[in-house]
Amino acid sequence: MLAIIGGTGLDQLGNLKITHRQVIRTPYGEPSGALTFGTINQHEVMFLARHGYGHTIPPHEVNYRANLWAFYEQGAKRVISVASVGGIRANLVPGEIVIPDQIVDYTYGRPFTYFDGRDRPVTHIDFTHPYTPELRQQILTAAVIAKEKCMDGGVYAATQGPRLETAAEINRIERDGGDMVGMTGMPEASLARELGLSYAAIAVVVNYAAGRGSSRDGIHLDAISKIAEPAMARVRNILGLVVESDVG
Ligand code: HPA
Repeated sequence: MLAIIGGTGLDQLGNLKITHRQVIRTPYGEPSGALTFGTINQHEVMFLARHGYGHTIPPHEVNYRANLWAFYEQGAKRVISVASVGGIRANLVPGEIVIPDQIVDYTYGRPFTYFDGRDRPVTHIDFTHPYTPELRQQILTAAVIAKEKCMDGGVYAATQGPRLETAAEINRIERDGGDMVGMTGMPEASLARELGLSYAAIAVVVNYAAGRGSSRDGIHLDAISKIAEPAMARVRNILGLVVESDVG
């Protein structure tokens, strides 16, 4: 089954016909909320709002382990994360949708592994390609069919938050190869890999990163919803077609 994690601007899916909600307990504590089960175009999916249904959980306090575990335990095979990001690369302007293919992780202090040597033996997962290539391709194909412009590839820099970055930090991230910046991509991606789940992200650029473009003098969050809302409608169109691809 396909699982979808909605980020800022996507705490519900308009095209999801809800059948039930289920509170899941995990060995890692509580997920961000009850899992929502339903169908999109007759295909079963499960959904979770990463920041809680009332958007109350900040990025560094999201229980990523519980969220991924809940999906895994309920039989998810593919997980698509929808995440809003700040654009660093010149062509990643607000409103663009990107399917990142790499990650640089700047987060710290988050519980980030299931393999801590207690319950499970230490295991070094391969993370060369952090997003599952086949799932990325399914999303890109769905975007073509949905006629929604969607960029193929880019480096997602995961920062700690909840504060936004300084202009110098964005310059450093760019030197490190970062194309976009967000706060929730890690450890979500590596936890999914540890559980053997396919995982890919749909990143929605909602602002220029700090010091760039219209964020030269500061990031004005009030402008973000105007960008996010139509972009999230496009994401829903893409998701409505990803469910048609037959695996999982
Ligand atoms: N920085 C970090 N996370 C973000 C941003 C940003 O500029 N925009 C949306 N999420």
